Amino acid sequence: MNNTVQYDIASIRDDFPILQRKIFGKPLVYLDNAASTQRPVQVINAIKDLYEGHYANVHRGVHTLSQESTNLYNEARAKVRSFIHASCVHEVVFTRGTTESINLVAQCYARPRLRPGDEILITHMEHHSNIVPWQMVCEQTGAILKVVPISDKGELEMERFHELLGEKTKLVSVVQVSNALGTVNPVKEIIAAAHAFGVPVLVDGAQAVPHIPIDVQKLDADFYAFSGHKIYGPTGVGVLYGKEKLLSEMPPYQGGGDMILSVSFEKTTYNQLPYKFEAGTPNIAGVIGLGAAIDYVQKVGLGIIAAHEHGLLEYATARLRDIDGLRIIGEANQKAGLISFVLDCVHPHDIGTMLDGEGVAVRAGHHCAQPVMERYGVPATARASFAMYNTFGEIDVLAEAIKKTIQMFK
Ligand code: ALA
Repeated sequence: MNNTVQYDIASIRDDFPILQRKIFGKPLVYLDNAASTQRPVQVINAIKDLYEGHYANVHRGVHTLSQESTNLYNEARAKVRSFIHASCVHEVVFTRGTTESINLVAQCYARPRLRPGDEILITHMEHHSNIVPWQMVCEQTGAILKVVPISDKGELEMERFHELLGEKTKLVSVVQVSNALGTVNPVKEIIAAAHAFGVPVLVDGAQAVPHIPIDVQKLDADFYAFSGHKIYGPTGVGVLYGKEKLLSEMPPYQGGGDMILSVSFEKTTYNQLPYKFEAGTPNIAGVIGLGAAIDYVQKVGLGIIAAHEHGLLEYATARLRDIDGLRIIGEANQKAGLISFVLDCVHPHDIGTMLDGEGVAVRAGHHCAQPVMERYGVPATARASFAMYNTFGEIDVLAEAIKKTIQMFK
């Protein structure tokens, strides 16, 4: 067993009511955080307080409740701005999540600019949400999708990246932390190289924001996308950060209420940023819940969370490596807190079911990253992914449950 100093794990765990759950009579060991994290009472209460005391539609009423909701909504945007260090609040667009953020950039930035033969550069370790939107825009425009390969260890082949980046490249879109491998990619280096060709970069930060402090200005990212539910916030809400100049030049994503200044049958004038991209009544409770989640993460401290998770990763890696017949998929030097693995004798879905019987929740499947599975010659993996509330004792439970599974299937 190991312990991280100055980390009050007991009080953190107390904040997450679901961690008291028993599964088949056993304490829940929740290791499916890369799919979705759990929520602390602070987030649950922020949503409850909104609905019980302040709720009305935003930006649409002069009455007190609408003003209060609007203020809470605007405060959440300011919290996101400060959390990712955007230069101003109108660079923060609320979306349904990372997937919608990437689709927005594909349709509103890339599609109007791309010509046949232009290239979009992604990597082999992307989630489907950072592949399919680009395939769609390539079909629409005649552009070509180029893919940076990955090594056996699960790292980007950076020499190939530099070779593939060129005059034809019009956009680079890259994941910061791979959901299937845990690899932390050198996005700062990628952005600098792309900018040398005048090429903007979108960073898929869905798996990065809960683990790594983000400064979009220091990274010099042109676009940065993430989801609320991976950072202890609600589902159905996410963020697209974009540099003001780029967002200003882009047409709206969807038409509807709130994204206009004036509408007549002859001509509609679009609203200013960020409202131009937020058509319709937004996910008010989701946005306010996301603000509360960011408050919570900042109160605990992302630096200390990252150190704790790194300890968990090292400990879990050592314990899992000790298990005969277990192969870890993805052994990059820079990894965030998740481990994908396969067993010689057990299909990942059976691993998932067996572990569930021991109270251990992991994800089993292709993790919406089928090209990664194909790269390593496996149909699927089991994946244990860590969050701020996981303990070293839970890693022991995981390791023992895997050993029991192997015994059963032998
Ligand atoms: N993208 C999520 C995952 O990795 C759903 O599990």
